[in-house]
Amino acid sequence: MTTTEHEHLLIRRAREGEAEEIARLNNVFAAEHLMLRRTPEQIALDIDDYLVAVNPWGRILACGALKEYSPSVAEVAAVAVAREAQGNGLGRDIVAAVEALAIKRGVLHVFALTLQPAFFEAIGYQRVDRARYPEKIRRDCLGCARRFACNETCFAKQLHIDAALAA
Ligand SMILES: CC(C)(COP(=O)(O)OP(=O)(O)OC[C@H]1O[C@@H](n2cnc3c(N)ncnc32)[C@H](O)[C@@H]1OP(=O)(O)O)[C@@H](O)C(=O)NCCC(=O)NCCS
Repeated sequence: MTTTEHEHLLIRRAREGEAEEIARLNNVFAAEHLMLRRTPEQIALDIDDYLVAVNPWGRILACGALKEYSPSVAEVAAVAVAREAQGNGLGRDIVAAVEALAIKRGVLHVFALTLQPAFFEAIGYQRVDRARYPEKIRRDCLGCARRFACNETCFAKQLHIDAALAA
């Protein structure tokens, strides 16, 4: 994919009916143990929390979601960029769109648990102790088969309302 093609991508909220395509993108990487597996049904239930990047033909090339844990804290989750579109700034842009949604909902603190620490460092996240997010541990980690051998790193970012206005 060229930079020019990237410029023709539209990042927008996901629509009903796109859950299957999002699940397909997500589960390519779930099969590689880079992301949690998600079913189309799970995604459909949370479709209002998803952002997608689509090309002019409507194909989804990237996705990301905002998972709210409290009125002030949310997770940047399910971030995936199709392999052929990686390395062009799309991951950065989709996370920025998830952050803008967080700000719109009044959430100014976001975190992510990831196997891609260099990506989150590159886009301005700070490494933090996951114990700061007991709700996340209760909701996802305690039921995870790899809870005693987890190699995910926790990152967080404080958002600013001006950033959303400038975007
Ligand atoms: C991780 C992922 C989302 C990055 O998307 P991308 O579109 O390739 O990333 P970008 O082009 O926006 O990169 C933004 C910055 O992160 C850096 N970066 C991205 N992936 C990186 C990696 N694997 N290792 C090191 N740096 C990386 C880029 O070099 C760039 O830095 P720069 O702006 O200083 O040049 C994408 O590789 C992906 O979908 N991977 C598989 C699924 C996955 O692991 N998702 C994360 C789950 S939390």
